[in-house]
Amino acid sequence: MSARPSPPGRHAIDTPDTATTHPATAIRLDPAAPDHHGEIHRLRTHGPVAPVLLPGDVPAWAVLGDHALRRVLTHPHVVKDYRAWNLWGGIPADWPLIGMVKVDNAVTADGPEHARLRAPLRTALNPRRITALQAHIRTLTDHLLDRASHQPGPVDLRAHLAAPLPIAVLGHLLGIPDTELQQLRPLVESIFTSTAAPDEVTTTQHAITERLEHLVALRRDRPGDDLTTDLIAHHDQGTLTHGELIGSLWLTVAAGYETTTGLIVNAIHALLTHTDQRTLATTAPRDGDSDPWAAVVTETLRWNSPVGHFLMRYTTSDVTIGDTTIPTGDAVIASYTAAGRDPLVHGDTADRFDITRRPATTLLAFGHGPHLCPGAPLARLQARICLRTLFARFPHITLDTTAPPPRPVPSLVANTLDSLPVRLQ
Ligand code: HEM
Repeated sequence: MSARPSPPGRHAIDTPDTATTHPATAIRLDPAAPDHHGEIHRLRTHGPVAPVLLPGDVPAWAVLGDHALRRVLTHPHVVKDYRAWNLWGGIPADWPLIGMVKVDNAVTADGPEHARLRAPLRTALNPRRITALQAHIRTLTDHLLDRASHQPGPVDLRAHLAAPLPIAVLGHLLGIPDTELQQLRPLVESIFTSTAAPDEVTTTQHAITERLEHLVALRRDRPGDDLTTDLIAHHDQGTLTHGELIGSLWLTVAAGYETTTGLIVNAIHALLTHTDQRTLATTAPRDGDSDPWAAVVTETLRWNSPVGHFLMRYTTSDVTIGDTTIPTGDAVIASYTAAGRDPLVHGDTADRFDITRRPATTLLAFGHGPHLCPGAPLARLQARICLRTLFARFPHITLDTTAPPPRPVPSLVANTLDSLPVRLQ
């Protein structure tokens, strides 16, 4: 092992010699992610696969191109198990991205293990359950907008709508009481932050386990018709270990909250900054198959995917994609935001937000292959209801230009804004 020098104030990572062979041209990703799309433009100069450095100068490969990403997501020698990573032994417990990497649930499993861990989540998110949630989502949206409209002056729609809606829906799905939800929310936000200090990382990790243990104990005492009760039953039947039960609960909360919040924020922001597209959406006929709000949601997912760089996968042999060979044991990140604007697939208008676009390929923003997002229908449903209700109730809504401009959340994984100040009337 040789230690790669870390910039001052960074986490010291023990790296094996193979890491020092990472190309010297690797681009250091800015963990504060102030300009996700600008950084992607620079990365693209390397082609569809770019060598990058994560916080602590941890080397990885970012897969940016649509075709390249589809290949990686289904490649038999690209796996999710972090134990296949050649750097795993040297990654400290307080590395800011550890919460995205060292988890034991479906998202870090492969093959039959993955199928076993994914099964209960798929059942919980089946189409019948999601359809049954429609009325509840409408009621929640109306209630949140009622409250927002009573605020004096401008309103932050992230804080008043885009964040509380998915959290409340997840609470319903998981059977989590409101008081618990409020305690989990900052923990999810912290896990997505790529700039967290080492002591914050450690505190968050402990707090997550503590909260989820408490939740399992609550549901054990009072079982209900919810995912937590289902997962406890799987554990009691011997199909989930205790660690996997906690890990699966965490995966559902973490995967379902910041992503859906990001989708709603990005979609509202896109419409408020593209008047022509807003007019198209609000004046189009609303009949079944050609729902304009569904088109807004799909185009937002392509144009400004709320999942930036998804961490991580690892090669189990040398894997060649185009002109690039990723050595065995290296880390690979799936750059969904980049793939959505791949000019080779979406042409020279790839950077344009256009809800009439009919992409030639299927959307990648929810993943592809065995780990395809099981929560996609739920996320789409929430975003559609939110947008339709918001623009119907407040047809004169505008961005609040007197407030400080919203900033991107400091995250390599989440690609969205930390606030969305608007004037509703
Ligand atoms: C706009 C919202 C969402 C986006 C953009 C999104 C995106 C994604 C992506 C890209 C993946 C695959 C990651 C990979 O392995 O490369 C994924 C996986 C996953 N998502 Fe979502 N997601 C969203 C909402 C949700 C919701 C609402 C839930 C559940 C309530 C959910 C649950 C999951 C789970 C459990 C996985 C892991 C699946 C597996 O590894 O087999 N997601 N999501």
